[in-house]
Amino acid sequence: MAGNASPLSSLSMAVFILVSLKIASAGDFYRDFDITWGGSRAQVLNSGQLLKLSLDRTSGSGFQSKNEYLFGKIDMQLKLVPGNSAGTVTAYYFSSQGPTHDEIDFEFLGNLSGDPYTLHTNVYTQGKGNREQQFRLWFDPTINFHTYSILWNPKNIIFLVDGTPVRDFKNLESRGIAFPKNQPMRIYSSLWDAEDWATRGGLVKTDWTKAPFTATYQNFVADACIWSSGASSCAPGINRLWWNQELDSTSEERMRFIQRNYMIYNYCTDTRRFPQGLPPECSVA
Ligand SMILES: *[C@@H]1O[C@H](CO)[C@@H](O)[C@H](O)[C@H]1NC(C)=O
Repeated sequence: MAGNASPLSSLSMAVFILVSLKIASAGDFYRDFDITWGGSRAQVLNSGQLLKLSLDRTSGSGFQSKNEYLFGKIDMQLKLVPGNSAGTVTAYYFSSQGPTHDEIDFEFLGNLSGDPYTLHTNVYTQGKGNREQQFRLWFDPTINFHTYSILWNPKNIIFLVDGTPVRDFKNLESRGIAFPKNQPMRIYSSLWDAEDWATRGGLVKTDWTKAPFTATYQNFVADACIWSSGASSCAPGINRLWWNQELDSTSEERMRFIQRNYMIYNYCTDTRRFPQGLPPECSVA
């Protein structure tokens, strides 16, 4: 990806490709994704309706979207590795390419049977991350499918779990904080082993007698602007529900509730980590 191409400006100048037929039609993993890692450990099943990743001692597995997206509301349902999943990490994230890439992360850190998963989130802008927030989930994510969504528009990036907002990264460019808006992103997911750090900081190792570990995906829905040949499928001001969406006071209150009750790490309160002062976006929120 050319680092300084400016999709927004070319977007306003140029080509408006209508690909709405492709948009918002639910989940065909054959059509929307490529398996990129792990060979037959990654499998598309049920005529494209289901995707399974697995991890064994030799390798994990992963996939990536065929399309690149620039803004959208994107849902995926995941059912995470059940049982003793300690040491395993299921990553589901959006990323552009290059040293100044933007990235939006969900990562699920496994745990011993009966102990809670950690939902790890992060946002990179212009190659800079260090914006971790971690949560417990209010359900067991291994029994049923749950929906993990990103709503990404020019105003904010909202992370949602089953429709409930858990994190809102606002566009604070007016305060000099970079915001992802020029670099189209692909969607990536992988299941891999990180026993060195994932569970209780590496204290709990992977139990390989339980391998292969499996995570399952379904109902991918991208109501999103697809980037193709240097142009976006969305014109500025396009009439999509999510394009102007921000949290209203009710959703804001729901998010605060989740954060008060389920957030277990917040970089914005980690003064020991940032002795020089917390990152600027922390004081705005
Ligand atoms: C696993 O469970 C333990 C005990 O409840 C907890 O301290 C830890 O944060 C959990 N998550 C991870 C990823 O280790």
